[in-house]
Amino acid sequence: MMVRVTDRDGQERELEALEGWRLMEVIRDWGLPIKAECGGACSCATCHVYVDPDWLGKLHPPLAEEIERLDDAFDVRPNSRLSCQILMSEALDGLKVTLAPELA
Ligand code: FES
Repeated sequence: MMVRVTDRDGQERELEALEGWRLMEVIRDWGLPIKAECGGACSCATCHVYVDPDWLGKLHPPLAEEIERLDDAFDVRPNSRLSCQILMSEALDGLKVTLAPELA
């Protein structure tokens, strides 16, 4: 399966993903610039992405912990998610996201 990730320069990349991986791990392991400082523990918000509106409804809704942590993120939008909280599955093959800006 694959995910389509647009970086902060507007370039879209297709990244191969494996079932059960966190989206954050896919983005990080392919070398895209995502900090993911807490390593996926939902405590840093530096894995913030914008999910393409067509895909938003296919994700499980965020847990309270993720919503709370998103409060710490920069430029939060209705389609903001923390990529460490998205587990890859066949249903998400083709998922499209954009990296959110980092805090200056
Ligand atoms: S990696 Fe820290 S909240 Fe996702």
